[in-house]
Amino acid sequence: MLENTVNFIKEKIADFNPEIAIILGSGLGELADTYCDITINYNEIPGFEVSTVSGHKGRLVFAKINGKNVVMMQGRFHFYEGHSIQKVVYPVKVLKKLGVKTLIITNAAGGVNPSFNPSDLMVITDHINLMGQNPLIGLNDDSMGVRFPDMSEVYEPDYIELLKKTGREIGIDLQEGIYLALTGPSYETPAEVRMARTLGADAVGMSTVPEAMVACWAGMKVMGISCICNSAAGVSTVGLSHEEVIKAANKAKDKFKNLVVEVIKKL
Ligand code: HPA
Repeated sequence: MLENTVNFIKEKIADFNPEIAIILGSGLGELADTYCDITINYNEIPGFEVSTVSGHKGRLVFAKINGKNVVMMQGRFHFYEGHSIQKVVYPVKVLKKLGVKTLIITNAAGGVNPSFNPSDLMVITDHINLMGQNPLIGLNDDSMGVRFPDMSEVYEPDYIELLKKTGREIGIDLQEGIYLALTGPSYETPAEVRMARTLGADAVGMSTVPEAMVACWAGMKVMGISCICNSAAGVSTVGLSHEEVIKAANKAKDKFKNLVVEVIKKL
């Protein structure tokens, strides 16, 4: 199957060899509208699911950004949509087979750290997997990675430094911290958010961790950026809604775009 998918995409993109991939989170998809040379809708791609969340388009977008060959996932597959964890991470395996070396994963997240504000960007330094799922369970594909992969540096330390340096250079204040993943789709209870904080998390969300684990296993270098879209439940007294999340992501999208475009220049 993987081979079918890869061949299908290669045929469409001819001699475009992507080196960098970006998974664009809720409300952050505009980058793929700005830079867009070749597009392939997920529903055309064998082995891909169809993304069902509003604010997510559901296509691969190939473009040259700052001289680099980039492929963007405009929309991702979430576990809470009912896809198996294998289907959620399938595109990452495809990206690896397409020759991608660097994976930039972005998401919308809730701020657990009380010093975070809506529309802040957070450099992900590590994660906590509380999805109750591990995408590497099953027969190991030794051609991709080892059975017991090291997860001590999922988020490439050089990239963490590069993001912080780039942020300073272009005048974007960046937070940094640990992303804790739960399945969703419900937002957390205040007690769950207190648990996340106690465990050392700075942000909570419903994505990223499965993709980051598979990319790490497969030997890709991972960079993670969360857009803090709201204070997680109980951190502030305001109730939560998807509309609020999209609104905060929209407010952050220009600085997000600038940061990513600038960072790509330096990769
Ligand atoms: N919790 C989980 N996921 C999220 C949140 C949140 O508060 N905001 C955006 N994605």
